[in-house]
Order: sequence, then structure tokens, then C-alpha cells
Amino acid sequence: MTATAPTRTDTAGGTPADVVAEAARRRTFAVISHPDAGKSTLTEALALHARVIGQAGAVHGKAGRRGTVSDWMDMERARGISITSAALQFSYRDTVINLLDTPGHADFSEDTYRVLTAVDAAVMLIDAAKGLEAQTMKLYAVCRHRGIPVITVVNKWDRPGMDALALMDEVADRTGLAPTPLTWPVGIAGDFRGVLDRRDGTYRHFTRTAGGATIAPEQVFSAEEALAREGDTWLRAVEESELLAETGAVHDQELFLAHASTPVLFASAVSNFGVGQLLDVLVGLAPAPVDRPDEDGKPRPLDAPFSGFVFKVQAGMDAGHRDRLAYLRVCSGVFERGMVVTNGRTGRPFATKYAQQVLGRERETIETAYPGDVVGLVNAAALGVGDTLYAGDPVIYPPITTFAPEHFAVARAADTSKYKQFRKGIETLGGEGVVQVLVSERRGDGAPVFAVVGPMQFEVASHRMEHEFGARITLEPLPYKIARITDRKSAPELATARDVEVLQRADGELLALFTNKWALQVLERNKPHLTLTPMVAAE
Ligand code: G4P
Repeated sequence: MTATAPTRTDTAGGTPADVVAEAARRRTFAVISHPDAGKSTLTEALALHARVIGQAGAVHGKAGRRGTVSDWMDMERARGISITSAALQFSYRDTVINLLDTPGHADFSEDTYRVLTAVDAAVMLIDAAKGLEAQTMKLYAVCRHRGIPVITVVNKWDRPGMDALALMDEVADRTGLAPTPLTWPVGIAGDFRGVLDRRDGTYRHFTRTAGGATIAPEQVFSAEEALAREGDTWLRAVEESELLAETGAVHDQELFLAHASTPVLFASAVSNFGVGQLLDVLVGLAPAPVDRPDEDGKPRPLDAPFSGFVFKVQAGMDAGHRDRLAYLRVCSGVFERGMVVTNGRTGRPFATKYAQQVLGRERETIETAYPGDVVGLVNAAALGVGDTLYAGDPVIYPPITTFAPEHFAVARAADTSKYKQFRKGIETLGGEGVVQVLVSERRGDGAPVFAVVGPMQFEVASHRMEHEFGARITLEPLPYKIARITDRKSAPELATARDVEVLQRADGELLALFTNKWALQVLERNKPHLTLTPMVAAE
């Protein structure tokens, strides 16, 4: 149980100075990538480098693969490391790293987006042969929207793939970020010999280990030695690196933090190449938690009393208990298990006695957490996504953006005698954000509209309504494709327009739904006085 240590330092009750120092040694990030780019492999390799686990592959066999969450659960069981289904925590050098999980499937994107509200940086993982893929671009758009600094890792360089310079062009063209490689590959994709470290001109030569199972030893050679070893292959890397320097592709910390440039590394996660360098870059360049602005834009100092916000809510992992688990990102002060905090939305107290306890048979509960850390709270029926919890001076953090839904369907109870269960289920799913629940007087309470980013959310909602709440539902698709936020003044006029319907979301926001973009454009042109605010698109 060694790696659970980082969260339990001896500073319980910590003085403000402790909090600032503890925050400074935290790095909280997520990996954004398209399925199959190697996120699970990289996650495991990172943990391996941090010496959380002894040998990669032990829990990551082909046969046993069940997606990242269960990979982590298996890793936890095998090694006793501190994992929730939302975050993996480990220490590296003197830094505490919180790696937040982003569900892989495209249709769970809304969940993923919420996770990105809780990170301070993102690692954009690209498959060297495929470049920037659809899901990566969608997630990147959220990082851009939120101004999250992005570190780019080109993975699978051990396999044939694109030309490195062409890849840099693609990153620049499609993200608008200036790529500033910190390392440059020696050998084309498929002939990965090592990297030229552009920061000091040395050659980091990699030695393969059997199946990438242990930390790949890295030998450092001078430029002369590199030339003697690799000849023209080395010269080509040097030339390309100089070309990059001439075009200004050199790391600048301010530009990186301002989301204008992205440092780039080349790696082969499966062979553990470049993984240690990524950890060093996370420690050296990625930002530590800073004072987080509240809903009025006023920063809450890191050393203010405890505060945090819920970025993810999950139904009980234990089918026997209809329990809710809320994941909280600590923003200020010290979290201590057992403390009674206030829910900013309801003004009600919330007792944190069961922080993380539900999550594992063998796991110890989290006792103390600092800004940047993630705490899992059980018995969290009273908590919803976006809620702020605080102690001492009140604070409310900005609401978490919900993304523009693109698919809509009316939900009805298949068995009308189960109406009570139906209502309860709808309320819960809406509160968890599994789907956005929209209602209107015209449709009535018995026929709420589910609004989702990806159609798989419908399946998840149907399944849970039936199995968790005992209320089977039917879903009738609606022809709408576009949603805009509107207001009470515009709503009556919108309601009379063709191909438009106005509904109210559970959080009180009014949504105008359009069947096609022309219906929307006509209204925008002819009735410019109407409020029709775009929502953040999931792409
Ligand atoms: P994901 O979580 O992003 O979906 O990707 P995952 O790590 O599951 O990796 C997808 C596939 O890519 C796996 O192969 C994995 O081994 C492989 N992979 C990951 N990183 C690298 C790399 O750096 N180089 C190469 N050549 N392959 C890499 P698989 O065949 O699906 O599974 P397995 O047989 O390897 O377990």
C-alpha cells in the first residue's frame, strides 16, 4: 500500500504555508486521445516509471483488457495503489501526480468534458500513424475553450507512421497551437532509435526491454557520440531540429501556459520510450494548482479554508446499494476526512465521513487531500455535478458547462403503474448529468425530453431506468438537431415559430431546439432581437 502515501502527509490540519507548498508539488492532468492511441498503455507506463507498479503487463494483458477503468481497478487490486475510478494518484520525485481518467468511448464525451474542468493540464496523445483523430479534436476543443495548457505526445513511434515534420504541420494547422518539440526522433517512425533532446543537444538512446515490461534504460550520449553511433540518421534529426528552431519552434513557458504553444515529445508507450521524459515535463513545465476564480471571477486563494467542486457523479458501483459517489476536486485549503462542509447550492451541511471508503475492500480511506487532489465522496445523494463544497468563508465556483446536445427523444414510462419510480429515475439521471432532462408545460411531466451529445447516452439512461429504478421506458426520437440557450423574454415569440420548440432544463435554463440550421439562420436574420446563445459544441 505504499503509493497511497502521497495524500496522507503529516500536515493534517495544515497551516496555510503547508497548503501552498503541498499545492505547488501537485500536477493534475488528463490524457486526451482517440480510442486505441495508447492511453491505457501510457497510463500504466507512467505508473511504472513512478515505480507504483513493478512490471507493466502484469495487469494489462490482452485477454484481461476491459477498458481503462477496470485496468485501473485491476492495477489497484494487484498493487494496492491509490486509484478511484476517476483518478490515479502516484508520486514521482517529490511531486504528487493526479491523473484523471477520461472515459474512452465517443458517446460518453460529456462525462469526459466534465473531467477536463478538474485538471490543470492535458496530455494530447497522438498515434504517429493516424495523426489527430476525431475524438482527440473534440477533446482538444474543450481544452482550448477552457484554456488548459496541452502537452503533445506522439505515440507508437516504434511503428511505421507519418513524417515527423508533417505531423507538426498537422498539429499547427488543426489546433492553432505552435508545436515546440522538446525532443525530436532519431530514426523515422518504425525505426525509433532514440531522441535528440533539443534542450541540451544530447542523444537519448533507448534500449528495448523484453516486451517493454520494465523501465527502458536510457543512455545519454553527446552529439559526437551520437554521430558516431547513428551517422546520417542522427544528422537528419539535427537538421530537422535546426529547421524547427529557425521557424521559432522553441519552447516558451509563457506561450505554453497561455495556450498558444504545445511542447511535443515522441514516445513508444508500449516499450516505455519517452515516458520518463513526459513525467519530467509534467513536473517541470505543467502548472501546479493556482487560486481558482469563483463564479464572480474572484480568485479563492489556495490557502483559504477548504473548498472544492464536484466534477463527476456516479451511481453506486455496488449494485446492492443505490448509492451515489461524487468526485470532488480540491481547490483550496486542506480536506480532512470527517469534516463537515457546506454545499454552496443548497446551503446544507455535508459530512465527509466516508470519503473514498466505498472504493475498495483493501483501500484505506483518504484522510487528507490538498488542492489538485481528487476525493471520492460516498453517500453523496445530495450532491450534483458542479456543486461547490466549502468550509469557512463561503465560495461558489462557476457552473460546469453542459455541452450542446445534438440528439433528442421523449421518454415515457412503459408501465404507467411505475410512475413514481419513473419520476425518481428521471430526476436522478438528470442530476447526475447522464442525460440533460428537458420539460415543458405542453409536454407535461410524464413526457420529459432527453437531450444528449451522443446516442449511446440514451442506451445508458434506458438501461439504468429499467434496472436501477424498475421503470422501463420507451424513447421516441424527436427531429431536432440544434439547441440554443434562450431567455424568458424571447421564449413566447420562439414558441410560435416553425420548426422550433422551447423547453426548460432541470437547472432552469431555457433551450430552443431547431430541426435544422436553416430554421435557426432564418430566425437569427429576421428576428435579431431574440436571444439565441450557442452552447459549447462537442466538436
Ligand atoms: P487506448 O487506451 O487509447 O484505447 O489504447 P491502448 O493503450 O489500449 O492501446 C491500443 C493498442 O495500441 C494496444 O494494442 C497497445 O498495445 C498498442 N500500443 C500502445 N502504445 C503503443 C506503442 O507505443 N507502440 C505500439 N506499437 N503499440 C502501442 P492491442 O493489440 O490492442 O493490445 P495488446 O495486444 O498490445 O495488449
